[in-house]
Amino acid sequence: MNSSHTIVPCSPAQLLAPGAPTAHTPAGLVGDTPLLWVGEPFCPAGRGFWAKLEGHNPGGIKDRTALYMVARARERGELLPGAPIVESTSGTLGLGLALAGITFGHPVSVVTDPGMEPLMRGLLSAYGAELHLVTDPHPVGGWQQARREKVEELLAMRPDAWCPDQYHNPDNVAAYAPLARELVAQLGRIDTLVVSVGTGGHSAGIGRVLRGFFPRMRIVGVDTCGSTIFGQPAGPRLMRGLGSSIFPRNVDYALFDEVHWVASGEAVWAARALARAHYATGGWSVGAVALVARHLAATSPAETKIAAVFPDGPQRYVGTVFDDAWCREHQLLGQEPADAPKELAHPGERVVSRWSRCTTVLDPLAGTGRTAPAGRGLAGAVR
Ligand SMILES: Cc1ncc(COP(=O)(O)O)c(C=O)c1O
Repeated sequence: MNSSHTIVPCSPAQLLAPGAPTAHTPAGLVGDTPLLWVGEPFCPAGRGFWAKLEGHNPGGIKDRTALYMVARARERGELLPGAPIVESTSGTLGLGLALAGITFGHPVSVVTDPGMEPLMRGLLSAYGAELHLVTDPHPVGGWQQARREKVEELLAMRPDAWCPDQYHNPDNVAAYAPLARELVAQLGRIDTLVVSVGTGGHSAGIGRVLRGFFPRMRIVGVDTCGSTIFGQPAGPRLMRGLGSSIFPRNVDYALFDEVHWVASGEAVWAARALARAHYATGGWSVGAVALVARHLAATSPAETKIAAVFPDGPQRYVGTVFDDAWCREHQLLGQEPADAPKELAHPGERVVSRWSRCTTVLDPLAGTGRTAPAGRGLAGAVR
């Protein structure tokens, strides 16, 4: 027996959370996710943050928005009973839409690219979603734009099909009000919110409601190096979920006090460190969010209450973030992040390739006269 093994000072019964929820439908299991305190050893002694474990939803954080977007589209008559749902996704929304399809009785088609993990593809098929794989990236808009074009093609073939358009659909923001209220009920007060940004949905939805409760709350956005969302040029991106190569209109730039860009190897380091020390972990966005939350916990006054949103769990990343051979092939191992991010005065100051931070947060499309793309079935065109 290992003599250094930690002795837990409570009985097995005390380790179990009381009152596990029951539900009559799988959708009834969405929400009311737990919070976990992430302190030592991931954070320095006496410091830490609260992680909202959205991986405890049946699919992940996007179960919330998939159910909400589908319900609202049905109410408005945009999605007719039994009509198909078509969407582009790197995975998490696909799981949510599969759940919404089962809940409301719609066939679901998901457009994805070769970066989708085999486990995710298998799960989507198991849940009855039809998968469409794009084979080449768009020369300017990358995989994301290629997927959107495929969605347009599928919509053209099915006049009754509906696309949630998660990047620009305001319901993808409104869907997260319950998550914000859960945080208020669980924590009472929140001083700092740390959120990853992909479509901008959960950061805007949670941030707007929480600012109503706590007007002075600091909101910290987390993006990936190579993402265009906060004004960096498009670059190669391994990280999925957070980041974008287009400009999602759901991003609420005015909410953010600062943005951090994190590199893939740094997110891998953090996701792995979390797994080893705290069990609760995830993939790219969880690693990046945790790295930033840890820094904020270490550098803010000890009484600062920090909430960090972990969008999903670790399972789908077993063959990437947690696979030594895959990480070695992509040169992601051994990249322990610096103690602090590099500082930028302005997002356009230089191209970042390591963890960096900027307190000037701007909409890159503001004043350019450019708008987000929209098409039939896409939210911008419908409303
Ligand atoms: C795992 C994961 N993390 C983070 C995000 C970003 O969330 P949002 O699209 O609400 O900005 C996503 C979005 O797909 C995701 O799947």
